[in-house]
Order: sequence, then structure tokens, then C-alpha cells
Amino acid sequence: MTSTLSPLHDLIQSYYAKRVEQRESCCSSSSCCASADSLPLSPFESLPAEVQPISFGCGDPLTIADLQEGQVVLDLGSGTGYDCFLAAKRVGDSGKVIGVDMTPQMIQQATQTAQRLGLSNVEFRLGYLEDLPIDSNSVDVIISNCVINLAPDKHRVLGEAYRVLKPGGRLAVTDRVSLRPLPAALREDAEAWAACIAGAITKDEWAQILSAVGFKEIEITLSRPLETQPETVLEKEVRNAKSAREPLHFVVSARITAIKAKS
Ligand SMILES: C[S@@+](CC[C@H](N)C(=O)[O-])C[C@H]1O[C@@H](n2cnc3c(N)ncnc32)[C@H](O)[C@@H]1O
Repeated sequence: MTSTLSPLHDLIQSYYAKRVEQRESCCSSSSCCASADSLPLSPFESLPAEVQPISFGCGDPLTIADLQEGQVVLDLGSGTGYDCFLAAKRVGDSGKVIGVDMTPQMIQQATQTAQRLGLSNVEFRLGYLEDLPIDSNSVDVIISNCVINLAPDKHRVLGEAYRVLKPGGRLAVTDRVSLRPLPAALREDAEAWAACIAGAITKDEWAQILSAVGFKEIEITLSRPLETQPETVLEKEVRNAKSAREPLHFVVSARITAIKAKS
């Protein structure tokens, strides 16, 4: 893995290293999953606390991934492996799940949990989404849960996702999407970026980037559509956004699917 990609990557990495070391999910503070859309209850409660996967997600990508036995699945920003372990069950022993994450503490914990669960069809690789340690045209389904909002260059990340998918492969992402472009002052707030707020882009920006890198059949469903947000609430939040740490009314969870066409 490249030693460092940017100061923002370093900050996000320390933020999540601290979270996993303190075993503190996003839900126990203010950010990612406070507006989560159908988070599953943990099926891992019988595991000892130190290897129990923690969800830092904002949705459930498996509900839109349409996983089949024997498939190769890649989880972008796999964290402690929560969604990877659920996916591993779905694809079975003839399939394989690879989780990629840039935070060594996440990879270490996820690997330990996989061993504890006796799963031989799951592997975790340290790496950046911007430069995936994965062969081209080798993955059937990409999942990702509350990660791509964190990437400063989403075009590069989704371009990499497109490269590694097999023709006909599926992208199934749950993430945080902003109902309006966020104010510049908030965008520059690195802490708000690490907390899955300041890096969120709009549904239109998502569709434009997905289409630019080659994806087809793009579908983006917001948990709360723009029309339901009164203008006054949005305007007030924009005015106060510099100090916002609580989830904003205009940053919602979304389900995003797209296909890499066969030809
Ligand atoms: C909000 S957590 C979500 C983790 C996991 N998907 C879940 O649902 O529990 C974000 C994760 O993405 C990783 N991450 C963020 N940006 C990344 C990047 N550019 N490359 C690789 N990993 C990244 C972080 O290290 C962190 O583990």
C-alpha cells in the first residue's frame, strides 16, 4: 500500500483506528448511522467482545446485492468485517469475499474474527479504494457501507470499482448522500468529513460520476427524499453548518446500485 495518499486519508484512518480500539461504533456517538436505513441486528453477539464485528455502516448493502452462491464479493472499506461475514454466508464455500480497508487496526480485527468464526472464504487486504489491491475483471459484486462519502476523489474510487468488476458485475452501496450541495465551510471541516457528513455528495453528483466511469442501470434511492425537507430547515442548517456535528437533515442514507455492462 502507498504509504499515505493525503492528510485527509491519514486523519480518517486515525479516526477509525481510535473507534475500533475503543470499540465505539458510529451509533454510540453522533455520526454515520444516526439516520441509518434498516441496520440489521447483530448476528454475532455470541462471539467474545474483543472479536465481535462492529457496524460503522448506514444501511444494509446485502439487501440490494442480490448475492448468489459461488460469487466473488468485494467490500470497499470493510471495517471490522461485519458485512463481509454476512456475505460469506450467502456465497458459501464455493464463493469468496474480500474486504479492503486502509486502516490496519480494522484489517487486524477483521482477520482475527474470520479465524474465530472458522471462515476460510473471507480475506482482508490492507489498501486504498483509490488503488485497489484487486485484479481487473475479477469480482461479481461490490458492496460498500458508508465509506465512499469519505473519499475525497470519488471519481477515482468508482473508476477502480468499475475496473475490478467482471462485465455484468453489480455495485451495491449504502452511503450518506446530501440533499443539497454542502457549504464550502463544512466541506473544509476535516472532523465533519471523518464523521461521514462533509464528504457526502448529492444524488445527481453520484449519478454523474457513476455514468462517467461507465456504469449503467444506475438506481439511487434516498431514505428521505428532498421534497420532504422544508426549505426553512435546510436553509437554517446551511447557515449553521460550520459547527454541525449532529447528523444534518440534508445528509440522508441512500441505496445505490449500478451494473458494469457486459460489452
Ligand atoms: C464508516 S466506516 C464503515 C466500515 C464498514 N463498511 C461498516 O459498515 O462497518 C469507514 C471505513 O472505511 C475505511 N476507509 C475510508 N476511506 C478509505 C479509503 N480511501 N480506502 C480504504 N479504506 C477507507 C475506514 O478505514 C473505515 O474502516
